[in-house]
Amino acid sequence: MRDYREYLGEILVPEDKLQSRIAELGSEISRDFAGLDNLLLICILRGGVLFLTDLMRKITIPHAIEFMAVSSYGVGNRETSGHVRITLDLNVDIRDKHVILVEDIIDSGHTISAVLDLLTTRKPASLCVCTLLDKADRREVNVPVKYTGFSIPNKFVFGYGLDIDDYYRNLPFIGVVDLEKYQSGA
Ligand code: PRP
Repeated sequence: MRDYREYLGEILVPEDKLQSRIAELGSEISRDFAGLDNLLLICILRGGVLFLTDLMRKITIPHAIEFMAVSSYGVGNRETSGHVRITLDLNVDIRDKHVILVEDIIDSGHTISAVLDLLTTRKPASLCVCTLLDKADRREVNVPVKYTGFSIPNKFVFGYGLDIDDYYRNLPFIGVVDLEKYQSGA
């Protein structure tokens, strides 16, 4: 695996900015759901893991966590929500729970849209989306997003949960890939 520094174009969101925004989101969620004892955060694997674990430590009200995994058919193919497949489903009943879906990034919107459609059929008390990053310019399907960490431009980003060739999810910041440098070293 190449050293990411060979193709890191810029740091789009540094660690301190990420963490302070996550703290704000945690406070907002804690306020919005105060007094409820059936809050459930559902993390969409794998990219949302770092965000979930930091966010939950900033939420000051009782809550549970669960995980789901979703994959899309084909290479870079999310043209219709029909191409999204649930590969790991919940094994808890979400009926009457207040559910927040926790994502690292929303791009076309197909993934989160498919998960929202599925979970709505299970009759939660409420259902909303919290995403760390939102690439709104890329949206192909309209999805309601209640909590957004950062709206970002259409750049190839990695780090803090997002991978590049399956690696570097552990980086504490969001970086941008310099495609020319990345491709020249491939
Ligand atoms: C990424 C991200 C979202 C999805 C967003 O997951 O975590 O789930 O893509 O894209 P969309 O809005 O166009 O559907 P990815 O498939 O890369 O899997 P990963 O989280 O395991 O890296």
